Amino acid sequence: MKKITIAIDGFSSTGKSTVAKQIANHLGYVYVDSGAMYRAVTYYAMQQGFIDVNHFDIEGLVANLKTIDIRFKFNNKFGFAEVYLNDMNIENDIRTLEVSSFVSKVAEISEVRQKLVEQQKQLGKDGGVVMDGRDIGTVVFTDAELKLFMTASAETRAERRYSELIERGDAVTYEAVLKNVQERDYIDSHRKDSPLTKAKDAIQIDNSNMTLQEQFDKILELVNVTLENV
Ligand code: DC
Repeated sequence: MKKITIAIDGFSSTGKSTVAKQIANHLGYVYVDSGAMYRAVTYYAMQQGFIDVNHFDIEGLVANLKTIDIRFKFNNKFGFAEVYLNDMNIENDIRTLEVSSFVSKVAEISEVRQKLVEQQKQLGKDGGVVMDGRDIGTVVFTDAELKLFMTASAETRAERRYSELIERGDAVTYEAVLKNVQERDYIDSHRKDSPLTKAKDAIQIDNSNMTLQEQFDKILELVNVTLENV
């Protein structure tokens, strides 16, 4: 059977990665979390002192982009790929609220986007891939056979993200998470280079009132219809 490309875009914490992983596992496709790549660059920038609350040395970061090597390695124990930065597993380090608070700023830099988009295209060149992010249907895979655009209210998304962070043991407040979600929505959809927008041919799914099972079933149905028509 032909292997298709599935592009899933949407605002932060819309549950894109959860359903993308489920669909990829179900189909035996590769799952790529493109947001993790922007988070990896952000984590690198924080580690190297290019970004903190008081300053952001964009030129310094751009000059050092060559030294950043991002890879995904499949972890059999968890059933999904983890992110490595220069051979170091940073899967947990990139999910903090601190990284979330800087990542949209890093994702505005065109040189960063160029580097990551090129790698994303390579990762998906053979098809059989589910990739989630902000510009997958509009920039990375403009001819993906199936494009989805996920939405949910900011409050619903902040609640989900807050629960995840609390479960991990992070000391955060709901208000801080909601503020971060709203700020990222604004920056992600207003930046000059590849702003978050629904591709014309994407199918919009608002999952505010859907269970994970309902969402999975709906998307699998769309996948099956797409597979019948390729
Ligand atoms: O999906 P996420 O929340 O982990 O993504 C983190 C940030 O990375 C998000 O706020 C914007 C940026 N991003 C992007 O600009 N383009 C993508 N394809 C994926 C993420």
